[in-house]
Amino acid sequence: MSRFLNTASAPPVEIFALAKAYREDAFASKVDLGIGAYRTNEGKPWVLPVVRKAELDIAGDESLNHEYLGQLGFDEFAQLATRLLLGADNVAIKEGRAFGIQALSGTGALRLAADFLLNCAGFKTVYVSDPSWPNHKLLLKHSGYADIRSYRYWDSKNRKLDFDGMIEDLKKAPEDSVIILHSCAHNPTGIDPTADQWEQIANVMEQRKLFPFFDSAYQGFASGDLEKDSSAVRYFISRGFELFCAQSFAKNFGLYNERIGNLTIVLRDAAPAVNVKAQITLLVRGNYSNPPAHGARIVTKVLSNNELYAEWSVEINENIKTMANRIKDMRTALRQKLEELGTPGTWSHITTQIGMFSYTGLNQRQVEYLVNQHHVYLPKDGRISLCGVNTNNVEYVAKAIHDAVTKYPDNQANL
Ligand code: LMR
Repeated sequence: MSRFLNTASAPPVEIFALAKAYREDAFASKVDLGIGAYRTNEGKPWVLPVVRKAELDIAGDESLNHEYLGQLGFDEFAQLATRLLLGADNVAIKEGRAFGIQALSGTGALRLAADFLLNCAGFKTVYVSDPSWPNHKLLLKHSGYADIRSYRYWDSKNRKLDFDGMIEDLKKAPEDSVIILHSCAHNPTGIDPTADQWEQIANVMEQRKLFPFFDSAYQGFASGDLEKDSSAVRYFISRGFELFCAQSFAKNFGLYNERIGNLTIVLRDAAPAVNVKAQITLLVRGNYSNPPAHGARIVTKVLSNNELYAEWSVEINENIKTMANRIKDMRTALRQKLEELGTPGTWSHITTQIGMFSYTGLNQRQVEYLVNQHHVYLPKDGRISLCGVNTNNVEYVAKAIHDAVTKYPDNQANL
């Protein structure tokens, strides 16, 4: 008899279960609005041309080998990633008190930091926004946090940021709580604080001695401007905060399965940097020993080469902007179609929200109906990835939403 007969069952990871159900659905007009991964207007995954170019170069480079990287990864990568987030001339970098550590994409960076903050730095309480990316709470639980709390973020009635609620909750947070903040393109709501609101958040966090831990999964995707999308992190540094920031290159390089990310650490002075790195070295060693190289090589090649960098960021193919602009066009198109159809409720939030997602306000019953009746796949919280909307299916999606909302009007969250 197996020792594991009593293993408890566990719920599927919703977003990946949804992707599988979509793949297995034979319906010709099915639409995938689930996972936050970029798709072309033809609904296909997109390898950025600049990434292909870098990969070809890497494949032909006989000086490269498959030796182990160090526990903290490829140093040049970590420095470049840190510069991308903070700006090359950031004073914290110049003073040697900001540095990066290669991590297994954004999730790996979040987990590494969460482990360090709990086990090596004595933090006990951690706050995430309500709602947040579901994996935040899961990874914090697995790190061992016994005190995971939420701060208000989404005002479901008015479909906007519940700023007063957020501030009130932060004011009540115990000193030395870790606060997870989305640096841009908040997932799932697509609503970010304004510059003025960030200032007020920073004021409260300073007064309450709260520790900012940013999650930067979408740099470039909120506005199409890499610098603007990291302005909250830069602002907190300019205010003198020490902070951590988990950076992902899954979205802005389209390197989802390469698991390439960076943990940027900004200290108030450089003195503890050696010990912080030493502790994180052991956390990595005891967990996955050392990170993989391929994604780090691609990102390093692009970020260290002026021409490739220009190609990636703006000048040549306007890759990131192309992605961001297509998403913006789809927001406009979807809203317009719903308004043309006279779908009950207001839909202006689709165009005011930013990033890949729209938090539609559709409720669980309507979502189930969309999936089962119309083969339009989205998670239960009503978040849609605009990347799955294209000129060929926007009308179908709008009509399906219209049908769901008119069929279940009582539960229409945004009426
Ligand atoms: C998402 O929110 O859809 C993405 O970040 C994918 C994921 O891992 O959840």
